[in-house]
Amino acid sequence: MLRIVVCVSGGGTNLQAILDGIDCGRITNTQIIAVISNNAGAKALSRAEGHGIPGILMSPKEYEDREAFNRAFTGKMCELDPDLIVLAGFLVKIPRQMVERFANRIINIHPALIPSFCGVGYYGLKVHEKALERGVKLTGATVHFVNEGMDEGPIIAQKAVAVEEDDTPQQLQRRVMEQAEWILLPQAIDDIANGRIRVVDGKVKKSI
Ligand code: GRF
Repeated sequence: MLRIVVCVSGGGTNLQAILDGIDCGRITNTQIIAVISNNAGAKALSRAEGHGIPGILMSPKEYEDREAFNRAFTGKMCELDPDLIVLAGFLVKIPRQMVERFANRIINIHPALIPSFCGVGYYGLKVHEKALERGVKLTGATVHFVNEGMDEGPIIAQKAVAVEEDDTPQQLQRRVMEQAEWILLPQAIDDIANGRIRVVDGKVKKSI
């Protein structure tokens, strides 16, 4: 059984897709052991609670400096000792010590086709605003392992989504979620839980 911790900052629709995937059997051999949020008001925490999953609040604001938060956050994660950490819309930079401790055991969903529209400053709605500004005809989502870089770890899965002519950033965000994110992230977790994903020379190999 793959024991996962899901980290979320906001609405938690990707968390919901994981919960639904487990409930309906699209994700197998997987158990969410905790949901961590940096935001007390995150709807994600009530979604977790509704499923009887412990919700943990870990906000940098509650620590005297970033180093103290990083120590506490990494310490909490070591205590939980998950097999996989899933960043599902988590807006806090993962401490270097956590990346080292959980090498190839942290995944993230990014709402664009990496290496486009990613890196510092590309988060949330901004990603879609930039894609519309550039006039791309295709965007999408990417699930990748997290390394010490920003959106630079090995790519697990990607899915393209069409941009429509009069899209607003909100409309595009919604389409990318519906057509890509909510499918890709549960699929990646199921693949990892069932031993279909390996990282070889910095690239992901998937077996059927
Ligand atoms: C998603 O677009 C995800 O790709 C990005 O943040 C957003 C989170 O949405 N990293 P939600 O909280 O899962 O609804």
